[in-house]
Amino acid sequence: MSEGAPSERAEPVRPDTPRHVAIIMDGNGRWAAARGLPRGEGHRRGVEALRRVVRASHELGIAYLTIFSFSSENWSRPASEIGDLFGLLRRFIRNDLASLHRDGVRVRVIGEREGLDADIRNLLAEAEDLTRANTKLTLVVAFNYGSRQEIARAARRLAVEVSEGRRTADSINENSLAQYLDAPDIPDPDLIIRTSGEQRLSNFLMWQAAYSELVFVPIHWPDFDRAALEGAIAEYARRERRFGGLAAKTAS
Ligand code: FPP
Repeated sequence: MSEGAPSERAEPVRPDTPRHVAIIMDGNGRWAAARGLPRGEGHRRGVEALRRVVRASHELGIAYLTIFSFSSENWSRPASEIGDLFGLLRRFIRNDLASLHRDGVRVRVIGEREGLDADIRNLLAEAEDLTRANTKLTLVVAFNYGSRQEIARAARRLAVEVSEGRRTADSINENSLAQYLDAPDIPDPDLIIRTSGEQRLSNFLMWQAAYSELVFVPIHWPDFDRAALEGAIAEYARRERRFGGLAAKTAS
């Protein structure tokens, strides 16, 4: 726990509200294609959906919202689309940072920063620095993020400690590895939502998702709104989380 959890934050509106919701914002391209629009327009409308969902998460008392904004694998897209996505991130931070800060949102970033342009790295650092002490909602932006890469980075740091004689190989367990993931102080997601009807994790939070409930929503991300979020939370509330144990009724 490097920075500690914020002490005061909005109470969940309902007791079965997940503390941490993570979202794979999928379907921007298909949304645009269905309307004869360029893919970039789908991403632009995706940012509008993101604003709606940040506001709704805040209102519903969700403490942590993680969004998959750019994956390590998205580099294989055409340069023009990569340019669109980076432009949107720049604009999102420049235009929305002040209002996120006013609303008490704390921004955190996970993913590999090395290799990103210096101006993007600076913007990400500025967003984290400005909002560090905020306590209402933590918005975790997964940018240039891939779960396998994150786990490999953690393994590399442990290997260095072993090679330098600062720990033994025997001392490595799931807790020591988890401490070297990108945001060790953030609790695992309770609910992971993927839009667009695809049903896979695509290298997103695979370590942290061990006991997450997965909800797949058959609408494209630009159409996602508060009602859709509440629908996914209602589905989550119907699930029985056992974490490898027994159902409550059979346990006693
Ligand atoms: C998936 O849709 C979405 C992405 C690859 C990027 C998500 C980005 C945004 C919502 C906007 C950017 C937000 C920030 C904060 C920068 P897709 O393109 O894979 O859609 P498709 O599967 O229909 O082609």
